[in-house]
Amino acid sequence: MTFKLENLIRENIKRLTPYSSARKEFSGAAQIFLDANENGFGSPLERNYHRYPDPLQTEIKREIAVLNDVQPSEIFVGSGSDEAIDLLFRIFCEPRADNVLICPPTYGMYEVSAEINDVAIKHVNLTENFQLDLQAIKKAIDARTKLLFVCSPNNPTGNSFPREEILKLIETFGGIVVVDEAYIHFSSEKSLVSEINNLKNLVVLQTFSKAWGLAGVRVGLAFANAETIALFNRIKPPYNISQPAQEAILQALKNGAAVERTIAEIVAEREKLIEKLYEIACVEQIYPTDANFVLAKMTNADEIYQFLLGEKIVVRNRNNVELCAGCLRITVGTPEENKSLLETLQKL
Ligand SMILES: Cc1ncc(COP(=O)(O)O)c(C=O)c1O
Repeated sequence: MTFKLENLIRENIKRLTPYSSARKEFSGAAQIFLDANENGFGSPLERNYHRYPDPLQTEIKREIAVLNDVQPSEIFVGSGSDEAIDLLFRIFCEPRADNVLICPPTYGMYEVSAEINDVAIKHVNLTENFQLDLQAIKKAIDARTKLLFVCSPNNPTGNSFPREEILKLIETFGGIVVVDEAYIHFSSEKSLVSEINNLKNLVVLQTFSKAWGLAGVRVGLAFANAETIALFNRIKPPYNISQPAQEAILQALKNGAAVERTIAEIVAEREKLIEKLYEIACVEQIYPTDANFVLAKMTNADEIYQFLLGEKIVVRNRNNVELCAGCLRITVGTPEENKSLLETLQKL
């Protein structure tokens, strides 16, 4: 399939004159900045946050590039990967004309973002054993299908899809394939980030919210070839990552070894949790998972969910989600949290 990025971009985005700040236009060593209506007197805080942050997050992109063996120009940094998802719609999808394809059950924001952007959604459910239905996907795609979302490992099922199948989808689809790797760090599968220059229609999403333990900082990433990333930068709000967030990410990136240890602990806890859950009478089945959560089929999901809420334990009730009838999605917690959950479930 010959792929031309130019043919996918919305006309208004092609025509857009991006916002330009005075600081972006000036490259030198100025001493006095009176261009952005900031408050040089400072704030009530001890830390000085009176300047706007670096709009292109140069320092953190430099570190992320090294870590992932890509160029800084191949990285978009967003306010969570949720921002990257929204921007994909705004770059590529003409409201009320284009459509996107998702494979439920999957992460809910693809659909919400589509609805916010007034873009139609094609649903091609996973098969009964939570695999991609490649034939049905092929059939559902039409000339106006711009984005195809593949979440691997998938939320809420937890499983990864075979790499060859994802690659095949990317090679045969004329639009953009968005591979959401929010949970990749908990998986033994290799990331597809290494493929962004071989496959021009691939966008890979990752996040600092899961393995990096920084959900409160709100930073997510999109990796793609430089031409595609330039489109994100054209339309994003200029200062989309705050100064405290950039500082926190930079600091975290200097301590990647700690993250590796946490991932190993979470994966070990996950296996323990699965084993112990199987000893509990109300648990019927735990689906194979590559993520930091388990999807558990229960004897009575709604009742157990309510019971846990009464005990001040919140899990995610997926009972009403397609293919997930009877299921609760449970995040792997700390050893203490998991112990409390198991003891509480024992009481049922
Ligand atoms: C599959 C998937 N993608 C993306 C996100 C959003 O991540 P972020 O916190 O970076 O916006 C989540 C959050 O739960 C998720 O499960």
